[in-house]
Amino acid sequence: MTNKYIYFIANWKMFGNLRTLNSLNTVMSFVKNLKKNNVKIIYCPPATLLKPLSDKLKFSSIQIGAQNCHESDNYGAYTGQINSSMLKAVGAKYVILGHSENRQMGENDNVINQKIKSSIKSGLKVIFCIGETLTQKRKNITKKILSRQISIGLKKIKNKKDIIIAYEPVWSIGSGLIPKNSEINEIVKFIKKKAKGINVLYGGSVNSKNINVLKKINNVNGFLIGGASQRSNNFIDIIKKTFN
Ligand code: PGA
Repeated sequence: MTNKYIYFIANWKMFGNLRTLNSLNTVMSFVKNLKKNNVKIIYCPPATLLKPLSDKLKFSSIQIGAQNCHESDNYGAYTGQINSSMLKAVGAKYVILGHSENRQMGENDNVINQKIKSSIKSGLKVIFCIGETLTQKRKNITKKILSRQISIGLKKIKNKKDIIIAYEPVWSIGSGLIPKNSEINEIVKFIKKKAKGINVLYGGSVNSKNINVLKKINNVNGFLIGGASQRSNNFIDIIKKTFN
């Protein structure tokens, strides 16, 4: 990998509590001693842990992201929802948007577009997830699907400097299956051509074993890591092996 920045983004999903945050002590000391200034490490815990994690990481270079937000950039009567400026106020610098687990619950491309706009307006950087399902892959329409997700998701967004795209094949998330390097390479090239100038990450079953294969893809700017990010040792191993 020969990129300017290499991102390692931990997506904790709906896991973790105050006690779990102690497990980050090892990651914090690892990062402190990591002699690399082109690495960005971002933890995206559940919203309940943003503030305590932000306090804990006050003197660390590890940054914090949220996992979703409401599309409105205003306050309002939306029970159970959190807007992007509320996330910013508790220390989030990034937000994951368009994750397939939310798309599967009904989030569509237009809503994701609103969320991206409101997050950028609030000063957050966006980790914009796209990816095809297994049925779409089998039908050979992956590029068509990604193309639509990108065009609508990024509609009327001129300044794309605060956006990173995470290519996450839906069939790969949590399944232990990963595409061939040549497939990821081709898709990342396609995404970069379509969304000019945007960094592209790979996500889906990244772990401390397959990282030895995945790290060989030279047009990827880093990884979005779910399950394997919940154990600090695995997460550290992924980073170490990427550079070995
Ligand atoms: P996974 O999740 O690494 O557990 O497959 C990735 C993600 O959903 O972002």
